[in-house]
Amino acid sequence: MDRFQMGESVMLTSQKGKKWLVRIDDTPFSCHLGAIHMKDVLGREEGEHLETHKGAKLFLFRPSLEDYIFTMVRKTQIIYPKDLGAIVFHGDIRHDDLIIESGIGSGALSMALLRALGENGTLISVEKRPEFALQASENIAKFFGRAPSNHQVIVADIQDFSLNALADRVFLDLPEPWHAIGPVAGLLRQGGLLLSLSPNIGQVQLVYRELKAHGFAAMNTFELMKRDWMVDERRARPKDRMIAHTGFITVAKKTPFPMASGDPEE
Ligand SMILES: C[S@@+](CC[C@H](N)C(=O)[O-])C[C@H]1O[C@@H](n2cnc3c(N)ncnc32)[C@H](O)[C@@H]1O
Repeated sequence: MDRFQMGESVMLTSQKGKKWLVRIDDTPFSCHLGAIHMKDVLGREEGEHLETHKGAKLFLFRPSLEDYIFTMVRKTQIIYPKDLGAIVFHGDIRHDDLIIESGIGSGALSMALLRALGENGTLISVEKRPEFALQASENIAKFFGRAPSNHQVIVADIQDFSLNALADRVFLDLPEPWHAIGPVAGLLRQGGLLLSLSPNIGQVQLVYRELKAHGFAAMNTFELMKRDWMVDERRARPKDRMIAHTGFITVAKKTPFPMASGDPEE
């Protein structure tokens, strides 16, 4: 197992799960549970702990992708972990897929897609705002330790984007995704999947109209609610607060034919 090194980030985690993402250097760290010196983390392994001067244990973990996306610089709304998990699974990503995503935002979805893809696939992220493309690229490089060689970030409006290969998957997280359906339909191979996330159901209805007009079938829309529980010896019940709504996820499959009006399934 790799031991912690100078300059790395460590997720200090209390017994009850409170977390602090801290850089390992020659400085002290303190919180309500007491103080430790960060250089004492050097050379230790994940899962070990340090004791604060008040006797509390702080466990040493490397940040997970979930930890990272909530601590990275975010200049846009991001896709939440519960939805990222579903998007990656329902997107049915294979290791050699060519994927187009738009927009990149802060890079949360890009990181989840790159992890699922592995090194043989390619992710192309199309983002119209250069400052978001730059910030997301920095976030992604920091997480992976370098800019992944199978990731291209292109500053463009997705409606004007063209490619001389057909993608296997398209992921949209846009304020007006319905305007992008026609343009990306021509970039997606027959049988390929398109996934779109939108917070409002009115946006989803407009997306459906365009999906039907551009040769998509087998549309499915769902949302996920994740309710965390508090569990100890005295009680086991849902926590009082939850993120009740994030967005609706729509999945559709590309066919060569637009849905005819008067189709018996209509
Ligand atoms: C909600 S953010 C995406 C967040 C991202 N999925 C994440 O998890 O970090 C939406 C992004 O779409 C970009 N965008 C909006 N319209 C666009 C368009 N027509 N073409 C390309 N990018 C666009 C915005 O600039 C913004 O960065």
